[in-house]
Parts: sequence; structure tokens; C-alpha cells
Amino acid sequence: MSKIFVDACFGKDTPYTPVWMMRQAGRYLPEYMAVRKEAGDFLSLCHNPKMAAEVTLQPVDIVGVDAAILFSDILVVPNEMGMDLRFATGEGPIFDKPIKTKEDVDALIGGKDAASKLTYVYDTIKLIKEQLDDSKALIGFTGAPWTLATYMIEGKGTKTYNIVKKLIYTNPELMHSLLAKVSEVVKYYLESQIEAGVDVVQIFDSWAAALEEDAYFEFSWNYMKDIASYIKQKYPHIPIIMFPKGIGSYLDKIDGEFDVFGVDWGTPIELAKEKLGSKYVLQGNMEPTRLYSQNSTKKAVEHIANVMEGKRHIFNLGHGILPDVPVENAKYFVKLCQDITKK
Ligand code: CP3
Repeated sequence: MSKIFVDACFGKDTPYTPVWMMRQAGRYLPEYMAVRKEAGDFLSLCHNPKMAAEVTLQPVDIVGVDAAILFSDILVVPNEMGMDLRFATGEGPIFDKPIKTKEDVDALIGGKDAASKLTYVYDTIKLIKEQLDDSKALIGFTGAPWTLATYMIEGKGTKTYNIVKKLIYTNPELMHSLLAKVSEVVKYYLESQIEAGVDVVQIFDSWAAALEEDAYFEFSWNYMKDIASYIKQKYPHIPIIMFPKGIGSYLDKIDGEFDVFGVDWGTPIELAKEKLGSKYVLQGNMEPTRLYSQNSTKKAVEHIANVMEGKRHIFNLGHGILPDVPVENAKYFVKLCQDITKK
């Protein structure tokens, strides 16, 4: 059965523009909170295929999105490369022993050895595929090497990126050796997700905006492009979505072998269409906090729909949904995107 979401990723004509939301499986859903409580904590939930599959499917059933996104986290990759990870309440993810030296990079588990430890992710995918309606797509994902390496070096979220930036400007070789090692794991990781059954993959580069233009292409985009070409060559039927957040002013230099460009909310959709719309299908990009008001949601959805004219587009938010958004408003957004673009 053809999936409207996969068709849309390849720029084919679809009966309406499909929609999903980044971070759609999460804390704004009481049903998610119930399963997380049963699991004990967030990482235990990621490690439990039955429960992870259940929360992956919740937004499809409750909110009506056209695609499910695998429930996991980008940081399970560095975790399986040998770095202890914990999620502190109110603080987010923490690596207590961040990467500092060449010895630290050498000590990381690399390649297939690391990717093959993520069996709980592949098991989750198989369980989801047994339960997901045939008309809906399952999106697999990874963090971009730059975003993952930033966490591995800073040890936690950062406002200034001073530790990782000190490294790229004082010891770029060390940074490149880490990025290359992470990239290799990510390639095998995405491959294994595809073999387990995902229909589409997305690469999240959440910290793209931390870098000036040349540094962005050197330390991030080139690695993302390399991963995309590797996957494209082996799996041409699997669409690839790239989401580099916050690089709207570098769009002229974006190229590579992928299918969908994820537009963040800070980039006007008109600009993204002008620069990239003929080359890539565009995904996005409603400002996520508009979900606090149905009226504000309606204005934005109408505007985006007018610009994209129902062609070469996937509706989404311009970043993740926040935990205090009313579920009713998320449902309203999804239905409006589908209705307004119906042919
Ligand atoms: O999108 C989805 O619904 C699928 C699941 C998903 C999660 N994290 C679940 C999650 C995905 C795709 C991610 C990716 C992720 N994780 C990114 C890239 C996307 C983005 O938002 O930019 C990043 C940067 C991370 C790292 C991460 N994980 C942070 C910074 C945090 C804490 C922040 C917060 O919102 O509290 C997490 C935890 C996390 N990952 C939660 C969820 C549902 C919250 C955990 C909880 O239940 O308490």
C-alpha cells in the first residue's frame, strides 16, 4: 500500500499535505505520562521496546498525524559508544565524563560494535511496524554528528558552546576525529533502523545555529551529507529528511543527496521555497508556541498552505511541541493542515 507520507517526501502528488509534529510522542499527552511513570524514568522507557512502541503509536491514534516517529532519543548513540548518560529532572541530559582528549575519543566504541548494541531500538521498530496502520509511515532518526558531538564534549546542554567551540578552533583535528567516529556509528545505526522496518529517516541537527557559516559546513553539514549519500546509495527508496535548525541564512549553500529539507520556525517559508523549493520537498514550519492558541495556529497554517500551494510540502512545526500545549490544540493543528490542503 502506498503511504501518503512517503509519496509526499518524494514530491509526488498526494490527496492532501501530510502532517506530523517533532516531539509528538511526549509530555503534552497524559497517556505518555502514564507509560513513562510505569517505566520508571525516561531512559528505561527508551530501553523497553513494548512501552516505546506504545508511546510511538499514541500520537497517531490520539492526534491523527500521518507518520509516527520512533520513540527514543538522539543520545542513545553516545550512550552505546560507552558514555554514561543520565537525565536529571529539570536539567535535561548529562554525560558526567565528557570527551576531552584523543585518548577519550579512542576509547569510544565505534562502528558496527556500537550500532549493534542498540538492539532495543530495532526491536521497538519491529513492534511498531506490527501495529502501525499500513497507510501510515514510520520515521526513524538520528542526531547529526555535530549535535551529538556537542553533547559529548559539553557534557550537557549549553548556551555558549564555549567548550566545543574552543576545541574546533584550537584542535580541529581532534574534533574531526570524533565527528568521523560518530558518523560511522550513525551510518550503521540508520541502516539497522531501515533493515528493522522504518520507512523514512530524519537527521536532527538541533545545534546547527551555534556555528558560523564556514564552520557549519566544515564541522556539520559535510558529515550530514556524507551520511545521506551513504544511505541513498544503499536504500534509494527510503526518503531522507535533513533538519538543521537555525541556518536560514546559509540556504544558498545547501546541497546533497536527500529528499526533504526541514525548515525551522525562524526561517520564513517563502525564503526556503525560493532557495530550495525546486530541489527539495520542504517540511515545516509553524512556530511551535502558536499551538497555545487555535486562532494563531489557524493564521499560520493558512499562511504556510498559501505559500506552498499543496505541492512539495509536508506540514510540521518548526521545532518540537512543548509539554504544556493543550492536546486539543495539537489535534486542531493536525486536522486543519489535512483539511485545508484537501484536493
Ligand atoms: O519526536 C518524537 O516524538 C520522538 C522522540 C524524540 C525524543 N527526543 C524524545 C524525548 C526525539 C526525536 C528526540 C530527539 C532529541 N533529543 C533531540 C533532537 C530534536 C530536538 O528537539 O531538537 C535532542 C536535542 C534531544 C536531546 C534531549 N532529550 C533533550 C535536550 C531532552 C530534555 C529536554 C526536555 O524537553 O526535557 C531530552 C529528553 C526527551 N527526549 C524527552 C522526550 C519525550 C523528555 C523526557 C521526559 O519524558 O521527561
